[in-house]
Amino acid sequence: MQKTDVTIRAIAPGEELPMELLLLADPSPEMIASYIYQARVYVAEKDERLIGVYALTLTEPGRPEIRNLAVAEDFQGQGLGKLLLRHAIERARENGAERLLIGTGNSSVGQLYLYQKMGFEITAIRKNYFVQHYPAPLTENGIPCRHMLMLEMELGTGAAFRTAGGPDISPIT
Ligand code: ACO
Repeated sequence: MQKTDVTIRAIAPGEELPMELLLLADPSPEMIASYIYQARVYVAEKDERLIGVYALTLTEPGRPEIRNLAVAEDFQGQGLGKLLLRHAIERARENGAERLLIGTGNSSVGQLYLYQKMGFEITAIRKNYFVQHYPAPLTENGIPCRHMLMLEMELGTGAAFRTAGGPDISPIT
């Protein structure tokens, strides 16, 4: 995948949400509905196809959270996840955020690897989050997914990533 062929942009008002992608990161349509309409949603587009998505929510002032991050299966492992994370970091920083949060399941070993490699640090655990919020038991990599691990990146100083940026956006509200 040539990174120059991919455009990352905010989803347009009234544009259909890329549910197929959102469901890759979060198997519950009900959970997605609980945050997606308050989120700022960005999509990665290549040849008029949406191949990636992330959603930024602002639950606390100055601390946005990436609530959903997904890359189409046939584009995974080609660097797009990293590109989307860098884009999110840049958008959050531009909007004056002090920290950026992301959460993932205790069983999501690849995602935990990626987020820590990008500079996020594990700061908290939401015990039994998936047991309480999801109707059916989740398993991944042969591991029961029960707890949400929260990771944070300090944006003021340490974050080492800069992107050329995509189309600009208005402040996250
Ligand atoms: N298992 C092992 N390694 C992984 C995984 C995985 N599941 N995902 C990414 N990596 C590693 C890659 O090997 C790569 O390592 P390297 O830099 O040492 O070469 C690095 O992470 C970055 O890889 P990318 O190619 O940028 O990642 P990709 O484009 O595949 O995107 C993502 C990663 C978003 C997790 C994608 O695999 C995906 O959509 N997975 C399904 C949905 C999902 O799990 N989303 C995250 C849920 S948490 C949340 O939404 C906040």
